[in-house]
Amino acid sequence: MKIFIKLMIIMFLASCENEAEKSQDEKTAESIWQEIDGYESWPQVSEWSGVMASIDGTHGSFVQIWINDVAMPSFQDNISSELPFASLLVKEGYSDNNVSSINNITVMKKIEGYDPDHGDWFWASFSKNGEVNNAGSISSCYNCHASGTDFIRFSTH
Ligand code: HEC
Repeated sequence: MKIFIKLMIIMFLASCENEAEKSQDEKTAESIWQEIDGYESWPQVSEWSGVMASIDGTHGSFVQIWINDVAMPSFQDNISSELPFASLLVKEGYSDNNVSSINNITVMKKIEGYDPDHGDWFWASFSKNGEVNNAGSISSCYNCHASGTDFIRFSTH
């Protein structure tokens, strides 16, 4: 019994340590996951609504993109300027032309002062259940996205 209690204490302390070790980026990603809850009912750009064939297949052969209300006005025409802070874009990647083949969910959020050299975008990749795969100022993300206006890759034309 004593051993059992000791084991419980050790496990409890270990879990506290893990929480403390979580990086700020990981915590930001987790709060973004809460923030995007229900994104499936967010607006979509009309030329990019529903499941679309991907331009380059990086995120899967097919993708679907949702945009929050803060960012939406920037997509009325083609994206011509920088998006406002608190803009959020959510993209599901699929291996096939249907939503059941989802492989991951990637998100871009514009956070004032987060990364001024790269458009202040915070990048995150989640599993479909919301586990954080990768999050923060990720060079592979912004390097490929740099060719787009304000790092946005899908085009409204
Ligand atoms: C090699 C190129 C490449 C890399 C690397 C890449 N992306 Fe993308 N991403 C694209 C393209 C192209 C699109 C447009 C949709 C499509 O055709 O798949 C896109 C679309 C998106 C979108 C929808 C908004 C937009 O910009 O069009 C988000 C959100 C996104 N990517 C997040 C990420 C994140 C997060 C990472 C890093 C973990 C990442 N991307 C890495 C090429 C890339």
